[in-house]
Amino acid sequence: MPGYDPVRDLRDSSNQSNFDIRHSAPTEENARELMAGSSNTQESSSNGTNLEAIPKESVTHGEAPMEPIAYQPTYRWSAPTTILTPITFEEMERRRARSKNPLRHRERNTDDSVGGRIRPYAEISAENGSVAEHYNKRQNIDRETRESSPIIPLKRFNNWIKSALIAMYAQPALGEHAQARVLEMGCGKGGDLMKWDRQHPSILVMIDVAEVSVNQARERYESGRFRWPASFFAFDCFREPLSSHIPQEILDPKFDTISLQFCMHYGWDTEEHARVMLKNIAQNLRPGGTFIGTTPDSETLMGRLDAIDSEGELSFGNENYRIEFEHRYEDGEKPFGNKYHFWLEDAVDDVPEYVVEWATFERLAEEYGLKLLYRSRFDQILADGYEKPRLRSLLERMRVVNPKQVAETGEVSPAMPASMWDVCTLYVGFAFEKVAL
Ligand SMILES: C[S@@+](CC[C@H](N)C(=O)[O-])C[C@H]1O[C@@H](n2cnc3c(N)ncnc32)[C@H](O)[C@@H]1O
Repeated sequence: MPGYDPVRDLRDSSNQSNFDIRHSAPTEENARELMAGSSNTQESSSNGTNLEAIPKESVTHGEAPMEPIAYQPTYRWSAPTTILTPITFEEMERRRARSKNPLRHRERNTDDSVGGRIRPYAEISAENGSVAEHYNKRQNIDRETRESSPIIPLKRFNNWIKSALIAMYAQPALGEHAQARVLEMGCGKGGDLMKWDRQHPSILVMIDVAEVSVNQARERYESGRFRWPASFFAFDCFREPLSSHIPQEILDPKFDTISLQFCMHYGWDTEEHARVMLKNIAQNLRPGGTFIGTTPDSETLMGRLDAIDSEGELSFGNENYRIEFEHRYEDGEKPFGNKYHFWLEDAVDDVPEYVVEWATFERLAEEYGLKLLYRSRFDQILADGYEKPRLRSLLERMRVVNPKQVAETGEVSPAMPASMWDVCTLYVGFAFEKVAL
């Protein structure tokens, strides 16, 4: 990946149209039919992964016929400060009060307010917040409430990203292994059950440190009438070996795919925890099996921090998200424990996360026999996925992109406001393959 360029990173919001997101979109569950559908046209990439043929269709834009191109903004015309101005705490509170999600309406402790001012989340969470505590507080909400979330376009996009990673890097690893064995670390409330159902696993093992989430995942599984077995475990898989909680007969034979979605950044506080995480993955993945995941992109995070003009300022964001660092470190100075606090509208309140410095992650992964197959920021994954007919179709069915808009503009832009897309482009997706050491 080239060095970070904030000008490239910050998108020209005038390119972004706000496709009407009020229509209720088909859910991922509905769309799985489609993903399960055509799997005929496949070709091989250089890394042996089966890729689908590049689509031949084109659209007409003005006079000249042109291929639709995936959204890869290069220039920004508006002032960078428009994206780097984080939401105020007062506005955060107002938005929380407006949310239909009941978990947003918990009363803030009176301690949260100092001198009439809501204290920065960083101050509050440093005192009392653990990751498990935060996720345990999150209630299971029904589909209707989920769909009414103000950030539903972002949630759909993230779901599509995970489906794309599974299709590109879990499916090929599972190909010859019908009845694949899958392990999800940091499974949350089981939001990816449907995605795995498509793989017809022989077993899905789900782990999360938040016991309430694990119970909700189990309930979701039980009410889903899946035709394959699943096992659920609540423990910290960045601090303890899998074998200390999971019976050996479940761990044998080794897994075909291990997935770690939107979770790794909680374990990058110390080298010891990062190593336990990678050892758990490497020791339990068969040679040729894949490890897939998503996490904030260290280059983008540090780039946005560097792009802040004022020296003492450590926070950036917009109306949808806010990131507040505790310190500013030189490049490479703090490979572990570089802490920031993340607020995402209607999703993450004040949870501490750690920058997963990519070079360190890749080096450590290699030590454990995990060879990098793919790493792309979410905007690039959209571009890559759009080239594959099934993933393109899923993009349209999940209303992540609007085909009419693509036809009109010749550009594959996500159907969401610019400020939300700025959250999406914070993240990177990756795939590693287990090699024999
Ligand atoms: C942002 S949620 C993502 C959930 C799910 N993977 C998804 O994509 O929807 C992060 C999850 O990681 C879990 N988690 C964080 N640290 C963990 C740890 N050390 N061991 C297991 N799970 C952990 C949290 O409890 C939470 O459920």
